[in-house]
Amino acid sequence: RGAGGARLDLAGRRVLISAGGTREYLDPVRFLGNASSGRQGYALARAAVARGAEVTVVAANVALSDVAGASILRVGSAEQLRTAVHERAPGADVVIMAAAVADFRPAAEHQYKIKKDAGAPESIELTRNPDVLAELLRDRRPGQVLVGFAAETGGPDGGVLELARAKLARKPVDLLVVNQVGAGLGFEVEHNSAVLLDRAGTATDVPLMSKDLLAHRIFDHVVGMLG
Ligand code: CTP
Ligand code: CA
Repeated sequence: RGAGGARLDLAGRRVLISAGGTREYLDPVRFLGNASSGRQGYALARAAVARGAEVTVVAANVALSDVAGASILRVGSAEQLRTAVHERAPGADVVIMAAAVADFRPAAEHQYKIKKDAGAPESIELTRNPDVLAELLRDRRPGQVLVGFAAETGGPDGGVLELARAKLARKPVDLLVVNQVGAGLGFEVEHNSAVLLDRAGTATDVPLMSKDLLAHRIFDHVVGMLG
């Protein structure tokens, strides 16, 4: 046990966490982004440090104070996040993709600021970004534990849990952390509730609690999956 009696059940383990939300620039001053603050990712980093891990965070546009004891790599776009994650993933025992990665980016980034006098652009052409988590699954080494996040609002295609189960079928991570997001839920708030879905399909409800406590719940599961 470490300081304050913390379990050191991640001692000697290397943990890589992506956090925050990517920005896809349209011109030098404008971007397509999302509401992810990085709070859950940073809470995971704090929890992993407390449990004795060697922690690297790939932080996409996170405006929070650094996590003591973790090394932080700052990135902006999905492409930059992808490069940073793939650089570090081969050495990691656990990779947690908590970042909200943009699915699309503008097909072209303007060199100069778009001026209104030229008239409104008719539409913004988008192109697909690579799916970093899908690539990690393809390249994973034996014994590596992969954790994904699923932010869902529910919709015409199903409820939150139903959509999350479909996501797990497409991207069979060891653990999928399912968050209901929307007004006042999930992003930019201090507390979070979640459902933890494992590969066998078992769902564990985690009631509303601080993001730090939820982080520890997630690692309780992860530790059990490490060899
Ligand atoms: N993810 C990723 N690379 C992307 C998009 C998502 O690595 N280009 C990761 C996220 O970090 C998260 C998981 O995939 O851990 C699920 O992200 P989410 O946006 O919920 O699911 P998608 O597969 O992108 O599907 P959709 O947005 O259509 O729900
Ligand atoms: Ca997505």
